Amino acid sequence: YEIYLNGMTGAVPRLPTDLSRLEELTERRLGPGPVGYVAGSAGDGSTARANRAALERRRIVPRMLRDVHERDLSVEVLGRSLPAPVALAPVGVLSIMHPGAEPAAARAAAAQGVPFVLSSASSTPMEEVAAAMGDAERWFQLYWSKDREVARSFLGRARAAGFSVLVVTLDTPLLAWRPRDLDRAYLPFLHGVGTANYFTDPAFRAGLARPVQEDPNAAVMHFVNLFSDPGNTWPDLAFLREHWDGPIVLKGVLHPDDARLAADAGMDGVVVSNHGGRQVAGSVAAADALPRVAAAVGDRLTVLFDSGVRSGDDVFKALALGARAVLLGRPYVYGLGLDGQPGVEHVIRCLLAELDLTLALSGHAGPATVGPADLEETTG
Ligand code: FNR
Repeated sequence: YEIYLNGMTGAVPRLPTDLSRLEELTERRLGPGPVGYVAGSAGDGSTARANRAALERRRIVPRMLRDVHERDLSVEVLGRSLPAPVALAPVGVLSIMHPGAEPAAARAAAAQGVPFVLSSASSTPMEEVAAAMGDAERWFQLYWSKDREVARSFLGRARAAGFSVLVVTLDTPLLAWRPRDLDRAYLPFLHGVGTANYFTDPAFRAGLARPVQEDPNAAVMHFVNLFSDPGNTWPDLAFLREHWDGPIVLKGVLHPDDARLAADAGMDGVVVSNHGGRQVAGSVAAADALPRVAAAVGDRLTVLFDSGVRSGDDVFKALALGARAVLLGRPYVYGLGLDGQPGVEHVIRCLLAELDLTLALSGHAGPATVGPADLEETTG
């Protein structure tokens, strides 16, 4: 509320409070390479556009004269109590946005009390990010390496570093066709920026013919070859269960049958997501998939959502469509690019303040009472 109340006294915030404006500002500040990588999507961008359209097509139908004087944004997610139904999504190579990189974003999340999901492809080793966060809630995103020893080693390290929930990303067995990166030959992984967890990993190093320092290019190519495994199938999930004793969430589920398979495999949750439109061009919009997945497994699994969230009302809509909480992607990355840790905190605070107001103005004192009846789907 500070931003809101300061506005009443004439104090102008350092960054815009409409988070959809951050991309353009960041591009002006940092140039087209880094922002092209972050903003870029698969193919012609149709999936990213569909993500926005599917949220915008749904309109909130506010209710009046309900007591919303006392409000509480907190939710239970995977057995933990969160102050709000929001976490920061795993995003690789944050050092291309800001020298503070993952620790700066993680500190911002910790300061605001929202979980930080650290990417396997982070530019900072997971132990350093954990050290920056103190006791704050942190989850680890796994790119499930082709080399099972590396995957096993990552799980052990993440556990030892205090990451509590495992988020396994299924939609990236290969990197998609992303024209904005291909046209500029801009793939930060290939320049060795998103490889910190790998280069510091004993199992990864054991697979190299020569030490990383002696042949960094060979090390990067080794990473590219093993970072994910297109050969995995549903029975392979048993490997993860065996090596992770906390909650496991599968990220990138869009089909209700896949959600059922996740539940059958003993998983704890799914993130309905199309990777922010970065993997399959022409894919179903994440917000269109969400109610179908929620209907299929909402009583068996924790259903989370990402892809296209840019405002508090988008969070509200995701809750109404069946999500327990959302992951926020690009907006916090731009906040980081523009102003480091304070920039990320600004983004989180704006999002939560706007969510709180949207709830109140729509007749809800908290997330628990939000449901399908709060939305109307328009054809336009
Ligand atoms: C991502 N995302 C992602 N997901 C993941 O599981 N591991 C990763 O390393 C990354 N890296 C990554 C980099 C960049 C630059 C972006 C924009 C996204 C996907 C991310 O977790 C999330 O699914 C989307 O960002 C959500 O969509 P929005 O909020 O960006 O529209």
